[in-house]
Amino acid sequence: MKTLPFLAALLCLTLLSVSCGGGEKKNQEEVKPEFNTKKTENTSKETTAVASTIPQSENKLGRRVFLLCAACHNVVKGEPHKVGPNLNGFLGQKAGMKEDFVYSEALKNKGIVWSEETIREWLTNPAGYVPGTKMAFVGVQKKEQQDALIAYLKEVTQD
Ligand code: HEC
Repeated sequence: MKTLPFLAALLCLTLLSVSCGGGEKKNQEEVKPEFNTKKTENTSKETTAVASTIPQSENKLGRRVFLLCAACHNVVKGEPHKVGPNLNGFLGQKAGMKEDFVYSEALKNKGIVWSEETIREWLTNPAGYVPGTKMAFVGVQKKEQQDALIAYLKEVTQD
């Protein structure tokens, strides 16, 4: 008789962990960008690593498109590099110059200076513009989204 409550508890635990695990995964895969826009406290490790300051802006479309980049890039001065370098102050700089970030040889050797024209080319097709780049991102093709994103980057990556 004693084993019954124990078994019931075990079953509960198993069910709980299965549903928790499944729920969390879904969250990470599908809702990540939205997550960053909310001001709620998140305690999971994954979210803490991703959550950072994504500056507010009147440019709502630009900020929304930037959520695609935010998993890999901070923009606020002093924040750490993520998978990609912190983009603070990058406009007007030579590509591949951020300290403490290990770039691909391809990007460093391409000799790009970041301007509205070069960033547009990069955004349209990163791997096409710089074959061998480490930036695993398909790009942003719609001109309207590019315009908004570039305006947002100009606004929020200034020192
Ligand atoms: C999956 C992660 C990832 C995503 C998403 C991503 N990037 Fe990157 N980005 C990188 C990496 C990694 C590099 C370094 C590339 C290299 O060394 O070849 C990089 C480099 C860059 C650079 C060059 C920085 C420099 O110092 O020269 C710019 C600009 C940039 N990304 C902008 C963006 C923008 C804008 C978006 C969103 C539209 C974006 N990235 C999305 C990972 C990412």
